[in-house]
Amino acid sequence: MQRIPDGCVDLVVTSPPYNIGKEYEQRREVDYYISWISEVIKESARIVKPSGSVVFQLGNYVANGRVYPLDCLLFASFINQGLIPRNRIVWAFNHGLHCSKRLSGRHETLLWFTKTEEYKFNLDAIRVPQKYPGKRHYKGPRKGELSGNPLGKNPGDVWEIGNVKNNHPEKTKHPCQFPVELVSRVILVNTDSGDTVVDPFMGSGTTAVAATLGSRNFIGFETDAGYVEIANKRLADLTTKEVA
Ligand SMILES: C[S@@+](CC[C@H](N)C(=O)[O-])C[C@H]1O[C@@H](n2cnc3c(N)ncnc32)[C@H](O)[C@@H]1O
Repeated sequence: MQRIPDGCVDLVVTSPPYNIGKEYEQRREVDYYISWISEVIKESARIVKPSGSVVFQLGNYVANGRVYPLDCLLFASFINQGLIPRNRIVWAFNHGLHCSKRLSGRHETLLWFTKTEEYKFNLDAIRVPQKYPGKRHYKGPRKGELSGNPLGKNPGDVWEIGNVKNNHPEKTKHPCQFPVELVSRVILVNTDSGDTVVDPFMGSGTTAVAATLGSRNFIGFETDAGYVEIANKRLADLTTKEVA
């Protein structure tokens, strides 16, 4: 990332390692981990344009049964870079491990920050159907007109999207993919066609797939050559069929 010039990309969106001992990471002291991710946050803030956004999808760091939400541990690191907080989105899903000594985790979060007050926000690109699409004002000066936006409603900050477990159609050998639908929403709302999206921890290339489907350019980083191969295959498959 240090080789990317200042202020030249439109969006950084990623899900970093959580320091929980997955096959692609080495557990570190939490202070070391936080300062490492904070460096990535610093680079993210540096490389986005004034109209750009930084979005990190985060879960929990768990040690000895103690649960530390990473969005809490890292929030100050974004603020320290001068980034402006816009939303803390709850990604809710209905699958996962069943815990016996605490409630089972069924959500993670996305922290969305912008670099300045003049940022891209294409709400129309991510509207969802109204609960009552044909509902009309029944009195007053707008009587008879549709009461909701015919393009749909704001999706809100709780997104119910299934996570990528074994039987999911997008599942690859990567142990922690996020779904295309999740990152697509972020890309569509925060960038325009032809913009450039960066994922510093690209894993199986989900962000690359979503960027390509949305006609955006993509730059990604990944240390594991096997995952890069998976990402390249997913991208190649896009030219011949729907998302793998
Ligand atoms: C949570 S996963 C990202 C998964 C991705 N969102 C997807 O849908 O496949 C984090 C990824 O970061 C990669 N990684 C770990 N350290 C890295 C580093 N220093 N630079 C780039 N990638 C790294 C890991 O190999 C892993 O694939």
